[in-house]
Amino acid sequence: MFYFPVNEQLSLKLPTQADREELYAVVDQNRCHLRPWLPWVDDMKSPDDYESIIKKWLNQYADNQGFQAAMVLEGNIVGMIGFHQLNWLNRQGEIGYWLAADQQGKGLASAAVRALLAIGFEHYGLIRIEIRVAAPNHRSRAIPERLGFRKEGILKEAAHLYGRFEDIVVYGMTATEYHQGIGREGAGCNIK
Ligand SMILES: CC(C)(COP(=O)(O)OP(=O)(O)OC[C@H]1O[C@@H](n2cnc3c(N)ncnc32)[C@H](O)[C@@H]1OP(=O)(O)O)[C@@H](O)C(=O)NCCC(=O)NCCS
Repeated sequence: MFYFPVNEQLSLKLPTQADREELYAVVDQNRCHLRPWLPWVDDMKSPDDYESIIKKWLNQYADNQGFQAAMVLEGNIVGMIGFHQLNWLNRQGEIGYWLAADQQGKGLASAAVRALLAIGFEHYGLIRIEIRVAAPNHRSRAIPERLGFRKEGILKEAAHLYGRFEDIVVYGMTATEYHQGIGREGAGCNIK
């Protein structure tokens, strides 16, 4: 089973059915925080809604199509991060993530994205990794910008979020850039 230590406090693990309640509870406590940027939040109405989703995530990993991992901080799930369905033909991946509101500001998501860059470029052998963010989502945009991704363009009105259509900013990093050291510096995060 997938388990990846990011640093001493933070690790990534594939959620199993045993994590349904905990995962739901984190989402439920963070609805107002997550809903502006994530289209699936209202679909999560009970822990049971995670049953088929976790099954799908486990199949995604088993089929070597990427993974969705829980961010675990000192034993507690504090968010999720993963590669959406990998594009093996072009050897490309796209990273998505979210974090509980009270865990922001510690560098956790940035550290986890760094881990996914290592997994994506070094383990999967990807050629290119993207992060796509709704233009007004400044906290999320700060992550690829902090890690040295290139801002490549804007997809006009490409994200449907509860009746509004936001522009999407596409950030990209190539394997060549990664192997030159971009996205690999300053790993770690300040957790007290
Ligand atoms: C997007 C999201 C994950 C960003 O969370 P975040 O805490 O700002 O990001 P990080 O965990 O990387 O932390 C960065 C912050 O920690 C600080 N920090 C402390 N130590 C750090 C370190 N070692 N490395 C990097 N940042 C560090 C940074 O200065 C920054 O704080 P600031 O915003 O006050 O400048 C979070 O806001 C979220 O889940 N939002 C809702 C869902 C969402 O938008 N998902 C993304 C959809 S595209």
